[in-house]
Amino acid sequence: MCGIVGYTGPRDVGEVILNGLKRLEYRGYDSAGIAVKTDEGIYVQKRKGRIDDLSEEEIPEHDAGIGHTRWATHGKPSDKNAHPFLDCDEEISIVHNGIIDNFNTIKDRLIERGHEFRSETDSEVIVHLIEEEYEGDLLKAFKNVVKKIEGSYAIVVFQKDSNELLVARNQSPLVIGIGSGENFVASDVPALLYYTKEVKYLRDGDTALISRDEVKIWDENDEAITRETKTIDWDVEDAEKSGYEHYMLKEIFEQPKAIHESILGRLTSFEDVDFSKYDFDEVQFIACGTSSHAGYVGRYIFEKLAEIPSTVEVSSEYRYTSPSDSTPFTILFSQSGETLDTIAAAREAKRRGCNTLAVTNVMESSITREVDEVIYTQAGPEIGVAATKTFTTQIIILYLLAIELGLRKGVLSKDKAEEYKDELRKLPRKVERILDDKNEIKEMTESLVKAEDIFFVGRNINYPVALEGALKLKEIAYIHSAGYPAGELKHGPFALLTSETPVIAIAVKDHTFEKMLGNIGEIAARDSPVIIVGDEDKELKKLADLSYFIPNTPPIFSPVLVNVVLQLIAYYTAYRLDRDIDKPRNLAKSVTVE
Ligand code: F6R
Repeated sequence: MCGIVGYTGPRDVGEVILNGLKRLEYRGYDSAGIAVKTDEGIYVQKRKGRIDDLSEEEIPEHDAGIGHTRWATHGKPSDKNAHPFLDCDEEISIVHNGIIDNFNTIKDRLIERGHEFRSETDSEVIVHLIEEEYEGDLLKAFKNVVKKIEGSYAIVVFQKDSNELLVARNQSPLVIGIGSGENFVASDVPALLYYTKEVKYLRDGDTALISRDEVKIWDENDEAITRETKTIDWDVEDAEKSGYEHYMLKEIFEQPKAIHESILGRLTSFEDVDFSKYDFDEVQFIACGTSSHAGYVGRYIFEKLAEIPSTVEVSSEYRYTSPSDSTPFTILFSQSGETLDTIAAAREAKRRGCNTLAVTNVMESSITREVDEVIYTQAGPEIGVAATKTFTTQIIILYLLAIELGLRKGVLSKDKAEEYKDELRKLPRKVERILDDKNEIKEMTESLVKAEDIFFVGRNINYPVALEGALKLKEIAYIHSAGYPAGELKHGPFALLTSETPVIAIAVKDHTFEKMLGNIGEIAARDSPVIIVGDEDKELKKLADLSYFIPNTPPIFSPVLVNVVLQLIAYYTAYRLDRDIDKPRNLAKSVTVE
């Protein structure tokens, strides 16, 4: 939702912080700022706009500072609402990621006590509260403040006379980077990779003091504790564009590797979960956005491979449904592991007595502490705001889980399971073949850029892929698009079909293929340009204005391949329209508000 970075050490603080913030821009990018300790006091530069709009030359060289990239929640994007904030005497500075729920009451009280607010944000109350509590011991004041604020926060604070950073976390990520004679803190690992791979993840309720030579941490009960130092196995290049014009394109092209890494070691024995502890008679998938589409695909996979009935809930709705007597095994998808809606849903599922499993791409992310079991997708860092390789690997995990459960339930024979595993092994190569055809797919998008509305249709397991194709296109190309089950268009949306309304139809040779042919015929008869993505077929060719046929694969695995084609369609359409592909307007990669 916002990205924060802090540094104390001998390097040029401006360079370290701006470099780190650029790697966090996916978390928010409507305003940015930096505060640096100088001999004369605290220097602040902040403004509406991107990190590149900050002037690096103007930042004084010194040995401690903090920075922030913002995704607005309270107070619209503007220079004054950008972080960092200063107290009235300009001696203390803070950056904050999250939402302070009780900021209104605190703010009223502080105004009564004479504090002057310079922004419309909730975050600014933190620095005035620290000022209010401060009686010569900043750490004590900070810990008192943390007790008074409610909501989600990752906070970094420093004071003009010290190069120590104070930090606190609750429901917003914060990771400390350990250096030699220097230390770092950031919302996420990519901001640190240039400087260190040794990190400590803070837990909810932790506060810490970070100086050049040491890191002291206290838990929620104010007990001094140590948090394990972990070594990150991502390289700097994993978090860089490596010659691709956009992160999104790089991440689309990384999918063969991501699939390979996600199945690696899991085909011989899938030991991520202690299956014997749980009852899998009924499953529910819960997630938001693209991750929820993985859940919808999962429904079909679980039914076919493991004969397990399942339902799908969008996280933000689940909490408000009425609990029933059933306690389905609950699988939550969140690539970031920080989506507050999904974290809240995990808590609610637990409260209702369900066992829970999170599938996430981010080690030690918040959701991992809310659930009984965790499976990590091995997609590597995903920086582009639009989820691509993490969605693909979520689906890969679903195949692995369903095969394992099918075997355990005795509904899948060993031979059949081996057949499916072989198909999984072949997927990276098939995805590569699609990626080799990128120019052909790019050509297909020429007709899409003029459209104001685009429909995506599919049936059965490819219906959620249609939803995902539509989401990707509207998200990065800003073209209104909607995904439908192919049989549904005639129940209303047909009224919108004209020669100006392209329809992208997913047609694979499963048990719904004949019906799909009929649906596509109906669409073509309304003069809509038809673009077909699916299995090669003579009849389909006759109906299509444009077509792309995927490598031969059993229908149950087709979502992975079809989706890669739809990702490329979205990417190249957005590219032709000169959109800000990695940072689409109004969006952020990690949505830590409800
Ligand atoms: C779309 C997209 C979002 C996310 C959603 C959930 O490309 O990325 O729809 O899928 O915000 O995010 P996670 O998976 O991090 O919980």
